[in-house]
Amino acid sequence: MIKLNSKLPNVGTTIFTEMSALSNEYNALNLSQGFPNYEPDEKLRELVSFYINNGKNQYAPMSGVQALRESIAHKIKNIYNIPINPNSEITVTAGGTQAIFTSILAFVNKGDEVIVVEPAFDCYNPAIELVGGIIVPYEMKSPEFQIDWQELQKLISDKTRMLIINTPHNPSGSILKNEDFEKLEIIIKNKNIIVLSDEVYEHLIFDGEKHCSILKYPTLFKQSIAVFSFGKTFHCTGWKVGYAVMPSNLMEEFRKVHQFNVFSVNSFVQNALADYLKDSEHYNYLPNFYQQKRDLLSSYINKSRLKLIPSRGSYFVLCDYSAVSNLPDKDFSVWMTKEKKLASIPISVFYSSGKQEKLIRFCFAKTEDLLHQAGQIIEKL
Ligand SMILES: Cc1ncc(COP(=O)(O)O)c(C=O)c1O
Repeated sequence: MIKLNSKLPNVGTTIFTEMSALSNEYNALNLSQGFPNYEPDEKLRELVSFYINNGKNQYAPMSGVQALRESIAHKIKNIYNIPINPNSEITVTAGGTQAIFTSILAFVNKGDEVIVVEPAFDCYNPAIELVGGIIVPYEMKSPEFQIDWQELQKLISDKTRMLIINTPHNPSGSILKNEDFEKLEIIIKNKNIIVLSDEVYEHLIFDGEKHCSILKYPTLFKQSIAVFSFGKTFHCTGWKVGYAVMPSNLMEEFRKVHQFNVFSVNSFVQNALADYLKDSEHYNYLPNFYQQKRDLLSSYINKSRLKLIPSRGSYFVLCDYSAVSNLPDKDFSVWMTKEKKLASIPISVFYSSGKQEKLIRFCFAKTEDLLHQAGQIIEKL
């Protein structure tokens, strides 16, 4: 038999796949994995269908369809008032995941340290391990899930090559504000550190807050990469299209890896997105749309024995279940899926230490009807 030397010996199926499978098996309501149970806008689907039937089926340019990169640059100007060069500072990727993976592959070398703000989305650490980088976790504290920059600064060494941040944050729903970026700018000034800013939930922000993108900080941006996802923005997570924005000197290196990783992303979806993105109404309604969903689910949680940790952004909300059970979080999520027919995600999996805090995550990118049904189960827990 062939002898394998696994590059990722500790990686199995992700918790998201696991909980969705369990949810299907037990016919539970699935508030675990982060995807909507509704369709993308019909207009967008028609555009995709138009382009697939009208000749956009061959390789797109390596960096992305020109019209889409121009629409993205226009959108960034429109929202953040920042000029971004569509030719040299934007690359279209196969979702946020590939943008993150390619960034780590391009910039982290063997032995380099990468500070990862945890709890963290699951694709960061395996990518760091694959390139022989060293993960240096910084744990945010529950229930605020804010970054204490003085504490984080203590983790910086002369081997630090990258810092990964995420705002709005999965899983906690916390957001980074202007003060955070000002402090970050001071901490990494004149240091050979790249900030990888995962902003896939940029439009999912509530209570009148405005998303603070790293793009807005010119000095910081010189050593930064921002990652976005059309899947999260336009309810089409299965299409896997996103983009990375960075200064041209970084982009040159990023594209060297991108070119031999995916080469280019499917052309008909890119052409459709290029048109669809031109109308700012297609994303400006999102904060309100998701805030209503957040409020609906939160109102049920507030009437239950679960303790709500309010979500400021993303489509996730955390709950403390310690008044309901003493089980470790994964056991509790499995129990709730099997016995109460409601699937969630345990939070310990987002920490490399496996920290146990009796917290679970619900995804509220669901129809009102499903949120009501889930809420009725939550109320009776
Ligand atoms: C924080 C975060 N980053 C990146 C991604 C990946 O985005 P995409 O589906 O576009 O690859 C996700 C998806 O759940 C996420 O939650």
